[in-house]
Amino acid sequence: RASSSSSSTSSRHLLSRAYSADASPERKIAVLGAAGGIGQPLALLMKLNPLVSHLSLYDIAGTPGVAADVSHVNTRSEVKGYVGEDQLGAALEGCDVVIIPAGVPRKPGMTRDDLFNINAGIVKTLCTAIAKYCPNALVNMISNPVNSTVPIAAEVFKKAGTYNEKKLFGVTTLDVVRAKTFYAGKAKVPVSEVDVPVVGGHAGITILPLFSQAKPQGSNLSDEDVKALTKRTQDGGTEVVEAKAGKGSATLSMAYAGSIFADACLKGLNGVPDVVECSFVQSAVTDLPFFASKVRLGKDGVEEVLGLGSLSDFEKEGLEKLKPELKASIEKGIKFAHGN
Ligand code: NAI
Repeated sequence: RASSSSSSTSSRHLLSRAYSADASPERKIAVLGAAGGIGQPLALLMKLNPLVSHLSLYDIAGTPGVAADVSHVNTRSEVKGYVGEDQLGAALEGCDVVIIPAGVPRKPGMTRDDLFNINAGIVKTLCTAIAKYCPNALVNMISNPVNSTVPIAAEVFKKAGTYNEKKLFGVTTLDVVRAKTFYAGKAKVPVSEVDVPVVGGHAGITILPLFSQAKPQGSNLSDEDVKALTKRTQDGGTEVVEAKAGKGSATLSMAYAGSIFADACLKGLNGVPDVVECSFVQSAVTDLPFFASKVRLGKDGVEEVLGLGSLSDFEKEGLEKLKPELKASIEKGIKFAHGN
């Protein structure tokens, strides 16, 4: 009896060892700005993600409450809240992925560039700490204007000697999420099957959805339909800002999009093959130093920046039109990082 009980104990032990060897590896994620409109639902969605083992929630205020609340959800990850700059290092130490939705959002009438003065400084501070405490982490930049905050982050990391172009991402997933939703409605195809690449940048006309490459092809869309879908995707953020009438910009759909992108980063890190998402990254796809396009994610971050594929005349025109604005936003970010 004693021996049968010890053999069943050891087989249980073997089973649990086999399980933990097969289970996904430990992954620490930080959300910076975790008490905000995006940060809170994003913290919840990351808590639901079984690939996360440690969830670090940082903000300048309010994180103890958010962390206590989210920590009661009965999923894998251990949740810790960090508040104030003196706890930023501990929040970041050992992180595999850092998601940054810190900063002010738009109010009606504002462009994303109007946020530059406040958010540029916030991003610079946070990236300086990332360079120090988790230089190998994949950085998912949500704070706007993404077209400038990503170049700022790159310059901060270069100055610190930690820049790795494979590990810095501007999160443009919400543009893809919107393009998919709007396309499915118009083309009358099931939204869960839709794929639409969105390239360029993340503001106004720099957002260029490639509906000519949309899958599946549904009822034939006229040129006017495609124009209207493009405009709605470009103005999707403003649609939400106006509907919220002064109470901020997209938070729930952005949290969803941010969680999709972070999940893709984690899958890539864990060696899942063929993980492809659009993102604003260092790029040689055009003559601009940063550009959003499809990116294959792997164990070190960007595995391959994929090209644009064939474009319709309307998309070619859109590409030429967006370049000067995107170039100016990139240069503004670089100049800020050098000047301060
Ligand atoms: P929010 O104001 O609700 O939350 C921002 C949070 O950042 C606040 O909790 C605030 O305390 C925190 N914060 C401020 N300074 C900080 C610092 N130095 N360190 C850490 N946290 C700090 O704003 P919301 O709606 O969550 O938006 C956040 C950012 O995301 C904005 O810049 C917004 O424009 C951007 N955004 C980006 C989108 C995208 O597609 N990439 C879509 C929607 C918004």
